[in-house]
Amino acid sequence: SIVPVILSGGSGTRLWPMSRAEKPKQLLALTADETMLQLTAGRTAGERFAAPIVVANAQHADMVEEQLAQAGQAPSALVLEPMGRNTAPAIALAAIVAGGGSQALLVMPSDHVIADLPAFHAAIQAALPKVEAGWLVTFGISPDAPETGYGWIQVGEAVGEGVHRVARFVEKPPLERAQEMLASGDHVWNGGIFLFRADTYLAALAEHAPGMLTAAQESMAAARHDGTRIFPDARAFGASPSDSIDYAVMERADKVAVVPVAMGWNDVGSWDALHGISDTDAAGNAHRGEVLAIETANCLVHTDGPRVALVGVEDLIVVASGNDVLVLPRGRSQEVKKLIEAMKNDP
Ligand code: GDD
Ligand code: MG
Repeated sequence: SIVPVILSGGSGTRLWPMSRAEKPKQLLALTADETMLQLTAGRTAGERFAAPIVVANAQHADMVEEQLAQAGQAPSALVLEPMGRNTAPAIALAAIVAGGGSQALLVMPSDHVIADLPAFHAAIQAALPKVEAGWLVTFGISPDAPETGYGWIQVGEAVGEGVHRVARFVEKPPLERAQEMLASGDHVWNGGIFLFRADTYLAALAEHAPGMLTAAQESMAAARHDGTRIFPDARAFGASPSDSIDYAVMERADKVAVVPVAMGWNDVGSWDALHGISDTDAAGNAHRGEVLAIETANCLVHTDGPRVALVGVEDLIVVASGNDVLVLPRGRSQEVKKLIEAMKNDP
């Protein structure tokens, strides 16, 4: 069976003030009553999948464990990183925990929405023959904007039913490059979900990022185990270079394939994106928490504490969490990044 690997170590700062280092995006219920992590685990609930290996920051151990237990998706292993070293080392830990052999690993971010589950499962099925033959497979999303925060994939010739060679993989291009790729018609976004054998991934690391492989191996050799919790050795893991799978492996490796799939994918990268995928009332408002709105249209209002009341406003994003309130016009939620920077300089 396929082993799901759930990456839950990101910080999701663009969804401030709801998402914070102590409780980032993946641990929040943003799109449904379940948290993003619970929704992710639920996508591999069937008997074709083993229990997941979850890789998270040690700081979040209790929350991750509680949420998965509550969703009935207890992990086979909960790997707790002493610090973040980005996704390539996190996946290396999971590949080693899985045994490092021919097991297929389905690597999933913990903070995405996939609306069409059967389409996702069909794409996984289509990828399996190439995975068994030692390819690194990713899933391609039809682009509709010149996104600079995604990886882009030029789709090459078919190498199987529904599976194409990756002609080129370009992680996070500059805007001009993204515009060209959008116009070309033969590029897709990298969905950030990967399928490969554990040994294929470890061999790719040995070739393209050997320092990372050594650090992961040494940190696991000296790891502390406590039930299903695994604590890689902090000194050895800390010595790893920090890099994403996209830069460290996908851009460099050889046998890389993509399965283009329309599955209602969204990475919920901003408050605007969340409004776009939320159920709205007749006036176009999406609410969570205690909200009172009169003559209000096309607003996103989320609160996890104080009651929020609005009269006569349109096209606003209002988010109240803890001691913080965020208000901005719809269409500008990427600028939350600027706020985070400003708060760092003047806390
Ligand atoms: N365990 C662990 N440790 N998880 C991590 C770490 C880490 O150090 N860093 C990030 N993650 C988790 C995040 O929580 C997220 O679920 C996932 O790994 C991906 O990391 P992101 O930081 O969100 O990556 P990205 O959005 O910049 O880019 C990736 O996703 C895009 C699609 O959303 C890339 O794969 C792009 O190519 C892709 O287009
Ligand atoms: Mg992301």
